[in-house]
Amino acid sequence: MQRMRIKEVLASETPLGEVRIQGWIRTRRDSKTFSFLEINDGSCLGCLQAVYDATLPGYAENLSLLLTGTSVEVTGEIVRSQGKGQTREMQVRGLQVIGAAPETYPLQKKRHTREFLREIAHLRPRTNLFGAVFRIRSRLSYAIHRFFQERGFVHVHTPIITASDCEGAGEMFRVTTLEGAGFAAPGAESRDFFGKRAFLTVSGQLEGETFACAFSDIYTFGPTFRAENSNTARHAAEFWMIEPEMAFCDLTGDMEIAETLIQELIRDALEHCAEDLAFCGEFVDPGLLDRLRLIAEQPFARISYTDAVGILLGSGKTFEYPVVWGHHLQTEHERYLSEEHAKGPVTIFDYPAAIKPFYMRQNEDGRTVAAMDLLVPGIGEIIGGSQREERLDRLTAAMQAHGLSENDYWWYLDLRRYGTVAHAGFGLGFERLVMLVTGVENIRDVIPFPRTPRNADF
Ligand code: 4AD
Ligand code: MG
Repeated sequence: MQRMRIKEVLASETPLGEVRIQGWIRTRRDSKTFSFLEINDGSCLGCLQAVYDATLPGYAENLSLLLTGTSVEVTGEIVRSQGKGQTREMQVRGLQVIGAAPETYPLQKKRHTREFLREIAHLRPRTNLFGAVFRIRSRLSYAIHRFFQERGFVHVHTPIITASDCEGAGEMFRVTTLEGAGFAAPGAESRDFFGKRAFLTVSGQLEGETFACAFSDIYTFGPTFRAENSNTARHAAEFWMIEPEMAFCDLTGDMEIAETLIQELIRDALEHCAEDLAFCGEFVDPGLLDRLRLIAEQPFARISYTDAVGILLGSGKTFEYPVVWGHHLQTEHERYLSEEHAKGPVTIFDYPAAIKPFYMRQNEDGRTVAAMDLLVPGIGEIIGGSQREERLDRLTAAMQAHGLSENDYWWYLDLRRYGTVAHAGFGLGFERLVMLVTGVENIRDVIPFPRTPRNADF
């Protein structure tokens, strides 16, 4: 007899005959002659209702084990349901308890806070909300690969252990096998595993550029680590980033790919995750579906950094952080630009050179670089990217200004020595994308096992 996932059972238009399903009990209700079991197997939001007849052999012994959380295998005929709320149900013929869950199972039939569920991160995927979030996350991951593969981009696996600080922000986790006193001793670095200081990557971009300068269009999709000590709802110490890099491409081409990517991913989710998104719209954020449709359909605004500063200064709003040309835009500024000014996603471009990393292409005005950040409502920055400095003399000058040694980046400079080309790319924070698509406000609730300052459980 065929084993089926509950999603297939509930979606099937044709009579299925007898099937076998496996899952976990969400709830049980008893009448005099039956028990109704709501079983979920994670394939979809919906549960299969299994009608367990009290006259079946073993019923009495099984009943005390059929509690919330228990795993079961049931076989039986799928029939049209008489009850309201579901179209089909199973008339159980055989039932086997696989693993019992006692009454102390932490996920009893009530709404739990997301903070509580973070403390039982191994069980939270069994709830409706996290089921929806992680199915959407999975679909988005697939849609990202599809987007790039269909356009001929080559997927590159860049290293997780690196020796360079791509973003120059110094927020890196050191990787070492040295212990105790050996760690601080003079010359320790040369005795370390790699014979020099090594770190967990903050970005695969520099390595990605080397492959773009051979394959033309590439993308990476991998874990990224930042030892930023900022306990915000949008920062994690370990997160996933998608970094496309395009040769023979300038900043305008870069912005176009970034905008098309966001729109296509949202369209894909609206089409393929309709049930889970409807759930998020009902229980997380009532404005979600309208906002997603708007983002998918309307063209994104583009504003230069200098104009953005003017808009913020002219807004009449009082911000916590002052608006000054040459300073970073804070989240409150980014959200104003997106939510109140553009009323949708907006790309800010041509940032002051002094606040951006060394690799960005210098503009002719001598004070800005060809950078872009894509800001979205509710979150702020979701994408950061730039055209890269492809001119050797300009790049080495920028490295000097940032206090970087040419010896450490000789391989990166070689790209500018041998057949240099205009190229550009960006990084999309995957968790921020999942936040945008689900409406969930805290990054800890869109990643399976969050790592944040003072928290690395499970
Ligand atoms: O703007 P960032 O720092 O850009 C880079 O790393 C470039 N090397 C990308 C490139 O041009 N190839 O990071 C890119 C994106 C941000 O826009 C944000 O969405 C996400 O990564 N991000 C984080 N997400 C979660 N937690 C953090 N601590 C994040 N830091 C950045
Ligand atoms: Mg950034």
